[in-house]
Amino acid sequence: MRIDLNEAKEGMIILADVYDEYGKILLSSGVRLSNKLINRLKKEKVIEIDVREQDAPKKRFEYFEEEEEIENSKVELKKFGRPEVKEKVTENCNKLEDIIKKLFLNNNVDVAKRKTIIASVVKFIKQNFNKDIIYILEYITKDRIIEGQLYYHSLNVAILSYTIGKWLKYTDKQLDTLIVAALFHDIGKIKIPEEILNKEERLLDNEYEIIMSHAKETENIMKEFGCFSKETIEAASFHHERSDGSGYPNKLNGNEINEYSKIIAVADIFDALTSKKAYREKYNSFKALEIIDNYSYSKLDNKITKLFITKFFEIYLGQGVELNDSTKAKIIRLNSNEITRPLLATTDGQIIDLALRKELEIQKFL
Ligand SMILES: [Fe+2]
Repeated sequence: MRIDLNEAKEGMIILADVYDEYGKILLSSGVRLSNKLINRLKKEKVIEIDVREQDAPKKRFEYFEEEEEIENSKVELKKFGRPEVKEKVTENCNKLEDIIKKLFLNNNVDVAKRKTIIASVVKFIKQNFNKDIIYILEYITKDRIIEGQLYYHSLNVAILSYTIGKWLKYTDKQLDTLIVAALFHDIGKIKIPEEILNKEERLLDNEYEIIMSHAKETENIMKEFGCFSKETIEAASFHHERSDGSGYPNKLNGNEINEYSKIIAVADIFDALTSKKAYREKYNSFKALEIIDNYSYSKLDNKITKLFITKFFEIYLGQGVELNDSTKAKIIRLNSNEITRPLLATTDGQIIDLALRKELEIQKFL
């Protein structure tokens, strides 16, 4: 329902993206309203919004629900019809964002208190982001407010890295190191001037160098915090090192880079590609995975990229997608040789092998 912003209440769910007068997105659909968000919208002079009450969940992922199951499809389509789980993920992300902001920006917190907060964030992520990956990915790849980029990005990278760590069967202790390093990997960016971070035009060479300095700044800040192990600091600050030695700040080679950093690099690139930047639109998940796949044998670790891409498509088996020629189909099987180009079935039972039909591309989920 469309309501006057003055009637908005905490807990209502946004039904349609909210834009400011210049067309910049302020809030995405699916977000649960808090008083803080309502005030922010008032400040932006938003007059009306589309919302629904908490207890009337909107049905999503319904495209294929009435369709006949196609043989070989491993996933029951009903699995995707659970909006309440998506809402839970959104709610948890919103809570975490607040905690992370406090942690990053408050200089008066002593080491013991910092340790306690960090431990509670790690516990929260492990408890709340250990299943329903499909909704987590959907949340991660949705539009978000550019202003909060660092916090959203840090959280997304932590959640994605945690997921990859679990797929790699990491121990609890390893997962803790990975999550903390991922949460803090870009903290060095708080030292970079906003006008360079959000610059829309091409960066000048010296500006690019300033941006690159954030990796070293991450190391410095984490040392100053005084509550991280050497292993965790390296895991975070090596996230721009690349297996072929082309990364920074130390131009390390593959065998000199720890596995945590290699995981964070994949999560970092995926999240960066699927989010809108000041200088470009966001890529859809499939395009992002193709770009990551192309780096598999040069910049990134192929064990991690292949695992990430395969799991991603496994999660979306059975899911409806739309192609660049507007065909609607669902993913029914993976191609082991070309994992970013799976086999699809259209609603009338036609099979499309994307590995053979290079002119076709998946544009979005339905
Ligand atoms: Fe970075």
